[in-house]
Amino acid sequence: MISLVGLPGSGKSTVGRQLARRLGLPFIDSDHVIEQRIGCSIREFFEREGEARFRDVEEEVIGDLCRRDSGVLATGGGSVLRSANRFALHGGSRVVYLRSTPEELFRRLRHDVSRPLLQVEDPLSRLRDLFEIRDPLYRETAHFVVETGRPSVSALVKMISAQL
Ligand code: S3P
Repeated sequence: MISLVGLPGSGKSTVGRQLARRLGLPFIDSDHVIEQRIGCSIREFFEREGEARFRDVEEEVIGDLCRRDSGVLATGGGSVLRSANRFALHGGSRVVYLRSTPEELFRRLRHDVSRPLLQVEDPLSRLRDLFEIRDPLYRETAHFVVETGRPSVSALVKMISAQL
């Protein structure tokens, strides 16, 4: 398994899909697998059950995927918050951290309404807070880091393929 970690909007799904195509592997999106398991959108689940319950399901799903599947896995941006996930991902796959600045993410996500964590008055400062907390966790989980700032998606895919 090859796993992509990083903040929401860092390109895990977009880059992951192209990387999977290039390598001839299946593409797996952990958020999508979670939605199949819970039978509703993550946004609804967050509202109804709260973040902690969501993290429990996420931990089950990431554990199962790392044990049983192979392919290119795009993980949810908060998966690294649980040490069990950091451990499962690092030990069970080759992990790439797609590293983007909060400002870059804000430009990409400013009109996005699907991400519950960013439905706040000041999403940029939220992204800065998330970055501060999570950047060390992504680094700890990953085998290598790719900065997403300048390169195109296909250039990123080539850079990652060269380091696998
Ligand atoms: C989350 C990121 C989301 C999703 C959930 C929580 C987070 O995934 O798992 O809304 O805590 O950063 P993306 O990183 O794909 O947006």
